[in-house]
Amino acid sequence: MPLPVIGNLLDLSFDQFWLRVSKWADMYGDLVYLRVFGQGILFLNSFEAAVDLLDKSGAAYAGRPLTVMCGKLCGCENITAFAQYGPEFRRHRRLMQHALGAGNIQGYRPLIMEETHFFLQRMAESGQDFVSHIRRYIGGQMFAIVYGHRIVDEKDPYLKRAENVLDLLSNHIASLGAGVWIVDIFPFLKYLPSWFPGAAFKRKASNWRTVIEDCVRLPFERVREDMSSDARTLASYCGVLYNRPAEDIGISRAQYESDIQWTAGTMYVASLDTTLIVLMHFALAMVLYPQVVQKAQAEIDQVVGHERLPTLDDRPALPYIEAILNECLRWGPPIPLALPHRLTKDDTYRGMRIPKNTLVFANVWRMTRDPELFPHPDEFMPERYLNLPADDPEAKQRDPRNTVFGFGRRRCPGATLVESSLWALMACMLATMDFHKATDSSGEPIEPHIEYRDVTLRMPTAFQCDIRPRSDRALELIREAVTAKE
Ligand code: HEM
Repeated sequence: MPLPVIGNLLDLSFDQFWLRVSKWADMYGDLVYLRVFGQGILFLNSFEAAVDLLDKSGAAYAGRPLTVMCGKLCGCENITAFAQYGPEFRRHRRLMQHALGAGNIQGYRPLIMEETHFFLQRMAESGQDFVSHIRRYIGGQMFAIVYGHRIVDEKDPYLKRAENVLDLLSNHIASLGAGVWIVDIFPFLKYLPSWFPGAAFKRKASNWRTVIEDCVRLPFERVREDMSSDARTLASYCGVLYNRPAEDIGISRAQYESDIQWTAGTMYVASLDTTLIVLMHFALAMVLYPQVVQKAQAEIDQVVGHERLPTLDDRPALPYIEAILNECLRWGPPIPLALPHRLTKDDTYRGMRIPKNTLVFANVWRMTRDPELFPHPDEFMPERYLNLPADDPEAKQRDPRNTVFGFGRRRCPGATLVESSLWALMACMLATMDFHKATDSSGEPIEPHIEYRDVTLRMPTAFQCDIRPRSDRALELIREAVTAKE
């Protein structure tokens, strides 16, 4: 039986597309299929369907869309997140696994704590610049982890280039909302010369390709220079891989360096807005739910005390902070429809035929807003993760780590690293900061107003809030932590 087709692209607005897809889920159930200019698209609206297809039949569902504009003309086929499932992709994942697997994350802990303390210092000086401090925190931490250098401020050219590429990818080149590129419907158009009328897409692609290649190439060239001089750098992803003995590599040196360069660039770009979105939702929740802050601070005060800041070693002893992290991931999933997987051979599921080349989206939004699993799903309630029975039959789908980072062979490789980084920042902010609504000139609180305008990422618009040190003692602790690093 073929899957029922329910619409075509011409009817669609892409504004918060996940809401639209979730309405279809209410009407049509777990599997919703549509065709857009002949391209089949399948939305998996339940955890069960996503696990059955993307996890259990992982190899068949590990492709990415075959796009002429994004993949070939803009050169994105080298970016791991867009690469097709094949030898190059597997090499990329192995490199990332090596650097980001649970065993190696320990090595990044001092750096994570150090960047967290610098972040607290900046917040203590100017809390109203919360969003730029967060950008700096993520950009700085990831740049150091990936390339072994610190960035100077949020205007750093490496960071700006990466943010620019991220915007190009998610809002222009590879987004449903940007429309469908004519060259993806009629691939022979790629042979048109750039000056030909109607070939504006080629000129755009050529400019964008340069922007992407520069973003990936320039920081790697710096690593290469470091390696050939005696520059003192931090231990980093690129540094460790660059120095690997030739016999461990197994491919040509040029190919190997290209793999390091593209995986490094992908990790850096992929980490920025995703992490920012979670932390913006964290700040929003802390402003809107003061009772959560009170409970969290009581837990930290009791377990950690007032003589030091929390560290990652405290994590197992702070279950309420863990519950806040879980709830931030669930309440503000950064990529609500994850990224599309392409089915690379015909398949059958629940008696329905799914044709080869169907693009498959996991509807993370619906899974994390399921009212059966998460009563009052729009409310921020960390308590929903506490006191669950040890044999909870729904433990897997209740844990947002199993949904918000995607599924199967394309699941986010940065999940374990980013969790540590998010936890450290949340725990240290709660230990040292108070969160309030901003006030207007007559002292009345201003309700935070949020909109979501992007198509792929669920990035909230900036909102006003008042985040400041909790006490003089908190300020002292921040100063002591920063001074110890200098
Ligand atoms: C809270 C932060 C993050 C969230 C929610 C997130 C989420 C995701 C999701 C949903 C995907 C697509 C998975 C799929 O196709 O099924 C993905 C892919 C990816 N993420 Fe993350 N991510 C985050 C942070 C990071 C970080 C910090 C890194 C790097 C250190 C990273 C590196 C990647 C890469 C390289 C891919 C592409 C994987 C592939 O195509 O095989 N992400 N991420």
